[in-house]
Amino acid sequence: MEPPAGQHRPHAPPPSLWPVGFAVGIAVLLTGVILGWVVVAIGALLTAIFGFLWVRDVTGGLRTVPDVEPERREVAPPAAPIRADEGGAGMVASSESEIERFPRSKFLEGATLGLGAAIGGVVTAPVLGFAVLPAFRGGEHEEVDVGAVDDFPEKEWMITTFRLDPDLGDVTARTAYVRNNGMLDGRPSFTIVSNRCVHLGCPVQPNGPAEDKGTQFDNKGRPNQVIRVPTKPAGFGCPCHGGQYDTEGNPTAGPPVRALDRFEFSIRGGRLFIGKPYSVGGVRGEAADAVIRRYDHVLPGVHVEGPSALMYPLEPPR
Ligand code: FES
Repeated sequence: MEPPAGQHRPHAPPPSLWPVGFAVGIAVLLTGVILGWVVVAIGALLTAIFGFLWVRDVTGGLRTVPDVEPERREVAPPAAPIRADEGGAGMVASSESEIERFPRSKFLEGATLGLGAAIGGVVTAPVLGFAVLPAFRGGEHEEVDVGAVDDFPEKEWMITTFRLDPDLGDVTARTAYVRNNGMLDGRPSFTIVSNRCVHLGCPVQPNGPAEDKGTQFDNKGRPNQVIRVPTKPAGFGCPCHGGQYDTEGNPTAGPPVRALDRFEFSIRGGRLFIGKPYSVGGVRGEAADAVIRRYDHVLPGVHVEGPSALMYPLEPPR
């Protein structure tokens, strides 16, 4: 029924800024997937707050109890008794005001919102899953036993090839240049430099002879095989674009953007274990006296220091 003039009420919710805040929250959340967990948390908080306010706004009409005129009844004089087989139907038909209490527009509004939310959830969940979950997996890195400490003569380099995951075979093979620096504060000191060029990832080579005769194997022919080849590098060179590094991994020529990555290590039971890789801004000093500017491990080509580092804030999850 057409309401009386001047009493039209729009079915749509009033204009609101909550959707804008919600969208900003989603944008911050997705950006945080790349930038870091603090930003993800801020995005999630904004999304939750603005989403809640938006839904509350939109569904306000459903929760409002309409003003209902108090029921008035004329006290009718008692009816004269009638016979059981006389009279009309016992049920009273719904009044028009009761039908209007849940108008169709309200139902459609709620149904549209619910359907939209369901479709949004179905579309968004897999995307967020693929984007967010890899970062939670943390890229765990098992330590790898690469031989007895005595297999690495002091002050000498060994080209050491090992498999991060023996079950996956050569696809996880890595090579590091390992030098035993002798003792530091009563504990063995090692320099372990990755052979992955920090320009575009080609394998850097030692600038000096490898001594094939001295090749050593651990677990030869087995999945966890380790190969050690002595070498006497004057530095390292990359065959792809001519990048050059000194023996501490500092770039000395060509396009590399930082020092060569290194690996953590530990000694257990007289054996050397290679751990997680990390990135290096540069190295001052050498061997056991080296002072290393260490950073989280990033991809080749990524600057880690100076104004240039600001140009590389986004690192895809691995
Ligand atoms: S990949 Fe090494 S210099 Fe380009």
